[in-house]
Amino acid sequence: MNNFNFKNPTEILFGKGQIAEVRTRLPENAKVLFLYGGGSIKKNGIYEQVIDVLEGIDAVEFSGVEPNPSYETLSKAVAVVKAQNINFILAVGGGSVIDGAKYIAAAANYNGDGWDILQGTQVTSALPVGAVLTLPATGSESNGNSVVTKKSTQQKLPFSSPLLQPQFAVLDPEYTFSLPSKQISNGVVDAFVHVMEQYLTYPVNTPLQDRFAEGIVQTLIEEGPKALKNPQDYDTRANLMWSATMALNGLIGQGVVQDWSTHMIGHELTALYGLDHAQTLAIVLPPLMYVQREQKQEKIVQLGQRVFGLEAENQAQLIDATINAVQSFFEQMQVKTRLADYDLDDSIIDEVIANLEKNGMTQLGEHQDIDLAKAKQILTLAL
Ligand code: NZQ
Ligand code: ZN
Repeated sequence: MNNFNFKNPTEILFGKGQIAEVRTRLPENAKVLFLYGGGSIKKNGIYEQVIDVLEGIDAVEFSGVEPNPSYETLSKAVAVVKAQNINFILAVGGGSVIDGAKYIAAAANYNGDGWDILQGTQVTSALPVGAVLTLPATGSESNGNSVVTKKSTQQKLPFSSPLLQPQFAVLDPEYTFSLPSKQISNGVVDAFVHVMEQYLTYPVNTPLQDRFAEGIVQTLIEEGPKALKNPQDYDTRANLMWSATMALNGLIGQGVVQDWSTHMIGHELTALYGLDHAQTLAIVLPPLMYVQREQKQEKIVQLGQRVFGLEAENQAQLIDATINAVQSFFEQMQVKTRLADYDLDDSIIDEVIANLEKNGMTQLGEHQDIDLAKAKQILTLAL
């Protein structure tokens, strides 16, 4: 097991009615930016609940944070924060709104163009953030990561800082009842792939982390299809919500070797062609497993045997069967796994490769051996 320092300071407020707790979690003299997305919270009643909780508290609303939040929109919010001396950001939404809140929190305390932070400038100061989660998927409610898109240059880049970890996160499963089935599917696939990025590398003797990881994906495999079938089932939603948070709150990633290449290649597909985040992951992961089958062999076999209960005559067959099982699960969750499903053909590959190069994504993977040639091979297999 590798060395690690682990601290997750986000207070999880889980369950029905937990929004009421927000009031006492806000600092005294809070001046709050109430940040949300395109308006789903106005249709499902969450908006009113937040307004109730903020009664008597100085708060400014900022709406219109789009899926894959843009630097362009978030910069407008940063200007509001600076002009109005906001000192707390309350994000109400999915990963995009929460990621957007983190960018605003960091950029508001930075003297310069906030995009520098996406280009590698360390975050040294940030406003506090709190989250009310409406879409279980990203884990953003309980981690320090954020992903922001600059529309003008078609770049989608991640950044991270412990200073951006939300102080609290309300996880009320009832808030997810209004999700369209596409977003249920996306959330399950995203959480599944988060586990894979922290698990499907090479073993460093971490049986506890492995079993946590396997437990999360087994739960997603059991509960995901149930949520599509019975969207109003509270317990199913609760189990999915907690699984997605646990998939990327840091716990399973401690002491293990990680590989975020599926995400990095996927981000280019979103930046260039507008595919949903999870759609890109479902396209990239199976061929990436295929191309990296040697390097990842022990963990692919372990996944196949322990999670999917597979047996085969030899290791090569077991690896093939495991890759098929992963791909079939995505399809079962109604997320397509081919570029052709989105009317994309081989004419896109050079453009994706050029963007990976522009963004410095030329040595991906746990061995830094996913270079542009391998990325091309992966995308070709994904056609
Ligand atoms: O904007 P509104 O109107 O709220 O609608 C949203 C949006 O259209 C809707 N929605 C959310 N909750 C709803 C709802 N509709 C009905 N009922 C509800 N309860 O769902 C749509 C998608 O929302 P979005 O926040 O974009 O989805 P998601 O949570 O999947 O977030 C995706 C973003 O997170 C980033 C992705 O790259 C992408 O930009 N990620 C962030 C990570 C992190 N911070 O750790 C890790 C992930 O790998 C991921 O990269
Ligand atoms: Zn993701």
